[in-house]
Amino acid sequence: MPRTPRTTILHLVLTLCCILWGQNTPSLASTATAIDEFLGCLSADIPSGLIQTPATPSSYSALLLSTARNLRYILPDTSKPLGIIAATEHAHAQTTVRCGRRHGVRVRVRSGGHDYEGLSYASVHLHNHNEPFAVLDLAALRAIHVDPARAEAWAESGATVGELYYAVGAASRSLGFPAGSCPTMGVGGHLSGGGFGSLARKYGLCADNVLDAVVVDADGRLMNRSSMGEDHFWALRGGGGESFGVVLSWKVRLVPVPETVTVFSIVRSRNQSAIELITKWQEMAPASPQELYLRVLVLNQQANFQALFLGRCGGLYRLMQDHFPELGMTEQDCEEVSWVQSTVFFGFSTTSVPPEQLLNRSSNPSYYLKAKSDHVQEPIPRDVWEIIWTAWLEKPEAALLMLDPYGGVMSSIPPSETPFPHRQGNLYQLQYYSFWYENGTAAAEKRISWVRGLYKEMEPYVSSNPRAVYVNYRDLDLGTNELDGDVTSYEKARVSWGDKYFKGNFKRLAAVKTMVDPHDFFRNEQSIPPLPAAKMIDSI
Ligand SMILES: Cc1cc2nc3c(=O)[nH]c(=O)nc-3n(C[C@H](O)[C@H](O)[C@H](O)COP(=O)(O)OP(=O)(O)OC[C@H]3O[C@@H](n4cnc5c(N)ncnc54)[C@H](O)[C@@H]3O)c2cc1C
Ligand SMILES: *[C@@H]1O[C@H](CO)[C@@H](O)[C@H](O)[C@H]1NC(C)=O
Ligand SMILES: *[C@@H]1O[C@H](CO)[C@@H](O)[C@H](O)[C@H]1NC(C)=O
Ligand SMILES: *[C@@H]1O[C@H](CO)[C@@H](O)[C@H](O)[C@H]1NC(C)=O
Ligand SMILES: *[C@@H]1O[C@H](CO)[C@@H](O)[C@H](O)[C@H]1NC(C)=O
Repeated sequence: MPRTPRTTILHLVLTLCCILWGQNTPSLASTATAIDEFLGCLSADIPSGLIQTPATPSSYSALLLSTARNLRYILPDTSKPLGIIAATEHAHAQTTVRCGRRHGVRVRVRSGGHDYEGLSYASVHLHNHNEPFAVLDLAALRAIHVDPARAEAWAESGATVGELYYAVGAASRSLGFPAGSCPTMGVGGHLSGGGFGSLARKYGLCADNVLDAVVVDADGRLMNRSSMGEDHFWALRGGGGESFGVVLSWKVRLVPVPETVTVFSIVRSRNQSAIELITKWQEMAPASPQELYLRVLVLNQQANFQALFLGRCGGLYRLMQDHFPELGMTEQDCEEVSWVQSTVFFGFSTTSVPPEQLLNRSSNPSYYLKAKSDHVQEPIPRDVWEIIWTAWLEKPEAALLMLDPYGGVMSSIPPSETPFPHRQGNLYQLQYYSFWYENGTAAAEKRISWVRGLYKEMEPYVSSNPRAVYVNYRDLDLGTNELDGDVTSYEKARVSWGDKYFKGNFKRLAAVKTMVDPHDFFRNEQSIPPLPAAKMIDSI
């Protein structure tokens, strides 16, 4: 068996990289001593029960897996954290950052663990070597305070989106919060990257509704909006997690919703005109009144049209008759519910589970995941959809397609208002979301190459220059960071993923990074790099 020699060579290469790295950058912990010093530094302020290391494999592994969503990044060969700190107080996050700086151990922050590429708990191929890192897990920092009279709330980063929905619903039947559909996502990562969901056409993203934040900066100091300044505060609201410090809590604006809203789920198969309906949907859904959100999920040769309408069934029925009679919606399709129950509908595809399910954090890794996504700016012709359904979607390894409409206020918010630049000019977001349960590399390769293949095929029909992508649908295929001296290369980041996620906002994000984390302490495979000195002068 060639197995033993191969493992040995691989091991050797990894060891070599670490040694080289240690020589280039003495500040980085490449030695057991530095790691011990880091752990010793933590233990001065943090109870030992909150720190897990591989020395206690079962409790370490239970904590590591507790919110790791993607099975692809908990395989035996994934590089794992040298320690996990389960913070229960804000000071624990400050200590972790300070000890990390002092002893050269990088810190990855984890709130809900839903990162598509596992960046909050795994290191995949950063700078072609394994950089030792610790995970700062915020899952226990999850307090939520809703102030219905002011229509505001504070939510700690470890709270889930479902917990926030539940708390808002419990405080008032006429307030809501615009966030995404999966209830177990963490508020920390979700708001950091934007946060898109069923109220986006009416009220924008989560990030458009953030009023303040408490952050641990790269020096371990606690900052809020007034002390950090508007540039730093701008970057936090959509610049993607990790790059600008540890967000401990967010103050958000709650938005008015009717006491009764309406949802429906209508499934049409291919022989029920699914392709014609999707073709028409592309123009109808982004142009419809802001009170309507109508998304489409395509799986198993069926298109599932799911709606939220901020009003009663009668109003929704009339609107559909006027704008989309072909769908054949009837009043029997309506379910009139509270807004919080509409979040249950999008989270669980049914309204018949109680809102308490929003509090269910059980999210042990459930499947292997690879996703890619696009922005569509011109309707895709019907014959192209025919080809997609026949040549791609009939294959057993086909992924779920998700079509999420833009328009409404998504088009009127200026693209530089927050780092999220995908505003006017986009009809909808198209996501290729592949998930599978089979263990082994053959299954993975088949699924992943399907996603990459369709993505390639779609190139002529989607946004270009750049081919724009939403940062919360993280995709390492776009490219990963490289070093330029001691810090992440600006140019490499810009051309590989920076322009695609952030378009014209990328340079400003890098300028903020230079101000708030010039040594590039908070970094990962796709963190925002500092601006090189020459470019800094340009931008003055
Ligand atoms: C099943 C599923 C459904 C989804 N549905 C939607 C959707 O409907 N709409 C949508 O917009 N997105 C959706 N997403 C994407 C989701 O918004 C992102 O994955 C988001 O980053 C998750 O946040 P998290 O805290 O759970 O992730 P984590 O994995 O904990 O963090 C994501 C990134 O942010 C960093 N980070 C985390 N917490 C902090 C913090 N407190 N301070 C600074 N940096 C931090 C991490 O280091 C990592 O880089 C979905 C993802 C999944 C897996
Ligand atoms: C922000 O922090 C400053 C002190 O740094 C404090 O005076 C102020 O009250 C804080 N603001 C909020 C909204 O917490
Ligand atoms: C449509 O196709 C499905 C199988 O995909 C079949 O079960 C159903 O009977 C067909 N319906 C009509 C109206 O032909
Ligand atoms: C929580 O959700 C999981 C699956 O996601 C389910 O198996 C479990 O029964 C749920 N727990 C409760 C108390 O409903
Ligand atoms: C996958 O299967 C291999 C052996 O076939 C096994 O060793 C491994 O533990 C399995 N992994 C998972 C995540 O089930």
